[in-house]
Amino acid sequence: MKMKQTTIKLLVLVLLCSSQKITAQQPLQLTVQPSKPGAPIPSTMWGIFFEDINFAADGGLYAELVKNRSFEFPMPMMGWNEIETKGSTASTLIINHGKENTANLRYASVSVNTASGVYGLSNEGFRGMGIYAGKQYNFSIVAKDHPGAAVKVKVQLVNASGKIIGETTLESFTTDWKKYTAVISTTDTAQKGKLNLLFEGNGTVDIDVVSLFPANTFKNRPNGLREDLAQKLADLKPGFIRFPGGCIVEGRDLTNRYQWKTTVGNVDDRKLIMNRWNVEFKQKSAPDYFQSFGLGFYEYFQLADDLGAEPLPILNCGMACQYNSAEVVSMDALQPYIQDALDLIEFANGPVTTVWGKLRSDMGHPAPFNLKFIGVGNEQWEAQYFERYKVFEKAILAKYPNIKIVSGAGPYSNGEYFDMAWKELKQLSPSLIDEHYYKPPKWFLDNASRYDKYDRTGPKVFAGEYAAHTKDVNASEGRNNWESAIAEAAFMTGLERNADVVNMASYAPLLAHVEAWQWRPDLIWFDNLRSTGTPNYYVQKLFSTNRGTTVIPILKNGEVLAGKDSVYATAAIDKNTNEIILKLVNISAAATPVKLELEKTAVQKQAAKMQVLKSADKTAFNTLDNPVVVAPEEKTLAITNNKIDVTLDGSSLTVIRIAVKKL
Ligand code: AHR
Repeated sequence: MKMKQTTIKLLVLVLLCSSQKITAQQPLQLTVQPSKPGAPIPSTMWGIFFEDINFAADGGLYAELVKNRSFEFPMPMMGWNEIETKGSTASTLIINHGKENTANLRYASVSVNTASGVYGLSNEGFRGMGIYAGKQYNFSIVAKDHPGAAVKVKVQLVNASGKIIGETTLESFTTDWKKYTAVISTTDTAQKGKLNLLFEGNGTVDIDVVSLFPANTFKNRPNGLREDLAQKLADLKPGFIRFPGGCIVEGRDLTNRYQWKTTVGNVDDRKLIMNRWNVEFKQKSAPDYFQSFGLGFYEYFQLADDLGAEPLPILNCGMACQYNSAEVVSMDALQPYIQDALDLIEFANGPVTTVWGKLRSDMGHPAPFNLKFIGVGNEQWEAQYFERYKVFEKAILAKYPNIKIVSGAGPYSNGEYFDMAWKELKQLSPSLIDEHYYKPPKWFLDNASRYDKYDRTGPKVFAGEYAAHTKDVNASEGRNNWESAIAEAAFMTGLERNADVVNMASYAPLLAHVEAWQWRPDLIWFDNLRSTGTPNYYVQKLFSTNRGTTVIPILKNGEVLAGKDSVYATAAIDKNTNEIILKLVNISAAATPVKLELEKTAVQKQAAKMQVLKSADKTAFNTLDNPVVVAPEEKTLAITNNKIDVTLDGSSLTVIRIAVKKL
């Protein structure tokens, strides 16, 4: 009898388990309705946010390898070390020009004689210099001899052990300041190379603006950008590029704010300032972090042009960072700030006969940059912002009525200040309002339908800075794990589905040096030679390179998919390529079968293209050594008439492109 009972219990258990199994494997029945086009998806939908944080510009995207090239850091020899043999009588003196040149005040005056032995100056680069074997490097120096001097400069690229991997010699300097250039070919790769200048001869030579660039920069532009990093940006096919930040726009105080006019014109004359991230976080202080502005507003516009992205400059609105000094300029002194905004539009778009249009042309771009957007303020809040924003808006729209102004909702994603911002700004005329959210992954999952309920009549949303923040792990790149990336993917389905409300979105921050970061997670990590896209990067890439032109419904029993059944989805048509594009995010660890019906659709082929980004391990992340732990895989998928059976892998983002006969 006892035995019989146990058998019955077991049978019930087996039946229960198998019925649960059957339930779990019931396919989700989804309907896609290309004949019901919704909102157009703007070309600006997916863009990038660039800020000089984590050594993103100097030491990163900006390809200059010499740190403190003009001796303008407050400690003028920072980044430079003397090389000398014992008993050397040689020396270097830092000299201040006085008022002769206010942007580039200092230079180094090097005195040597035959008794000096070996004497030189070595530049350490930004955590070393990344140098590749078999490449060419453009060296330049501004120099002059003192009368009677005969000094030779041996220029050497060396690796970490001091082995010479490329060299050249410069001599016969005149007694007037002049730029001297040389091309150096390299024999070896160095992860932590250095640049040595060895001085030989008799007398004193003055040197300034010591520069070393790879000959190959992105699009081979002079004063250009690091190729691998810029290419990673280009691969995203961004619809816009927001620059130069971020908090860097605001400055810790108003004197430390970003002023675009000091970043254009002759590169040697751009006035260096401290990078605010130098001192922002005590535990991540970076005493050698400055902004040379070699990558300045002209270069940003050029980059936007090269990427085919709309430039979106963000300007200071007369307010310093409210987390720092929080100082504001008085209302009666706001005009120069407004003039900066008006002049920037002239710099970007004005005819070459205008003052600022002429500067753009003189710098190499007579054609306008066709600026359409301008941001006023970064993360500002409370009345002092609205008061200042209002004056900017009036002046900008009076002169340039077609410019779209981006205003900001501040650093909070909801709450009192956020609501106040929307209320105040809705009474004005910004085209877009910038919202920021740095939140845990769960927030992103819970907010996938955030914009389903937004007011359709007000200004559009610019999701200008966002990233899912997970727990810290040791590796620099460790916070960019799959858990964060899949949560962002789920959230982004909600952005795309609401493209009538959300017109622009950008992950932040963009770039980080593994040895010099202040903030993480970040979209792309790099060292001196290598770079890697994070899982979050691949999510961005899958969305931006599969954008589509118009939202169409993808429904389960007439409802959008925003997390029920662990699936999030968005669908679009691409009128240019005649395709239906589906993006499906499965946050369940289990594989989920789906039956898709493409309503009223004639497909071109009985097969679709599919890209899958997945990981069974939520803590998985990419590193420079293992860069494709989480990376998209390409597959094909069978279609039967207008029906597709697909199994969404556990914890995955799936993008499906279906070519159709007519849309
Ligand atoms: O992206 C990093 C910082 O986060 C930005 O500078 C700022 O706008 C935000 O607080």
